[in-house]
Amino acid sequence: MKRNAILKGCVGVAVKKDAPKIIVQGGSRLSGELSVQGAKNSILPLLSATVLCQGESVLHNCPNLSDADAACRILNCLGCKCARDGNTVSVNSKEVLNTDVPKDLMREMRSSIVFLGAILGRTRQCKLTFPGGCELGPRPIDLHVSALRKMGVSIDEEGGFLSCSAPKGIQGANISLTLPSVGATENIILAAVTASGTTEIQNAAREPEIIDLAEFLNKCGAKISGAGTGTVVIEGVEQLGGAEHTVIADRIVAATYLCCAAVTRGELVLKNVNHGHLSAILPVLEQMGCSIYTYNENQLYINAAKLLSAPHKIITSAHPGFPTDAQPMFMALASTLKGTTVFVETIFDNRFRHAHELGRLGAKISVNDRVAVVEGVPRLVGAELEASDLRGGAALVTAALFADKTSTITGISHIERGYDDITGSLQKIGATIQLTMNN
Ligand code: EPZ
Repeated sequence: MKRNAILKGCVGVAVKKDAPKIIVQGGSRLSGELSVQGAKNSILPLLSATVLCQGESVLHNCPNLSDADAACRILNCLGCKCARDGNTVSVNSKEVLNTDVPKDLMREMRSSIVFLGAILGRTRQCKLTFPGGCELGPRPIDLHVSALRKMGVSIDEEGGFLSCSAPKGIQGANISLTLPSVGATENIILAAVTASGTTEIQNAAREPEIIDLAEFLNKCGAKISGAGTGTVVIEGVEQLGGAEHTVIADRIVAATYLCCAAVTRGELVLKNVNHGHLSAILPVLEQMGCSIYTYNENQLYINAAKLLSAPHKIITSAHPGFPTDAQPMFMALASTLKGTTVFVETIFDNRFRHAHELGRLGAKISVNDRVAVVEGVPRLVGAELEASDLRGGAALVTAALFADKTSTITGISHIERGYDDITGSLQKIGATIQLTMNN
């Protein structure tokens, strides 16, 4: 479903509608071909990075997502001119007039904290609200704050606000992260590209989205090396110009559609996918009994017709380990496999909320803190389900495709944050699924 969010000025004028719901008639074996959308977790830091560019930037392969629309609204609030034409977003940041991100927009999208580094890098000051926690548990930003303070930024935390300023400019620094935080790595890079001196990040996040951000910034004139490794070095430059860039494919959306094909024992060709970004995902699907062939630069074929068995253990970890964002959809798939799978969630405190909803379909899952034990069952039966977070919602859709009878899923706004037309994509490959308005 293409949302008609209108990106005007500071406040989006998204058309107010009834809350939609997804209805799935399970049991269809999926078969067909899908092209993978651009990466949500790349487009957000890339849009933030355009604040640093004293010129016009053009980003291709931008998915239609509510989070991307929210990021464009933040850019418009800052005085950048952000416009979308299909999957291309252009941003003219010749002038950045404001340095504060409005409360309602900060609340709308937790990851808007990634604007902090870019606004500071451009204007040397910024005020934004402390990002709310989210459904995955508390989302601290202590690593962001301590790193920026080391770079000469003074940050006052008061009344739920972060008031930041760097009157003497931002200084390069040596920063060793206690955790390879994706957001903290991105914020440090964004603050460091126009700092005076060089910044070195130790224990940096290695996710593909970090590489994508560094590639865009280097096209704009930045001097970043080591992105994708644990040590990233940024040599400060005077200023950045704009650039044209194509966003990488969304590896988590690719993993989602692979799980949808596997849960229906179907087959699927994925196009515009970077198999290298799925290096921890594909072996788990093969361990289950799926046949997977990668070919050309960016195509992949999966066939899950054979009887599938449980992969026994899935432990999430920072890239290149098994991505925490794929854990919920794999839990849905594991619920339908012969045997037991133990999930260990090492990244977030509270990322098993989908287990309860999967239980309403008949899944057998016991959760104890960060460990979930899934005993596969031969049958799931459709039920009324409520999505409570983005990937948990995708897990419910995945399981509903397997379940007999009809499932109804509400809380769709969570899913729309990260999936561009998930129902249209699944319909294309044979799913009996539709998006309807609450009546
Ligand atoms: C990014 O979130 C992604 N979001 C998340 O994807 C992803 O799950 C996560 O990285 C891990 O890969 C975007 O890129 C927009 P972190 P981020 O900082 O940057 C702790 C999705 O579904 N931490 O790497 O917020 C934190 O609490 C979303 O697409 C601190 O303690 O993740 C968490 O336990 C969900 N202090 C761990 O580190 C800090 O200052 C990893 O967080 C920062 C983080």
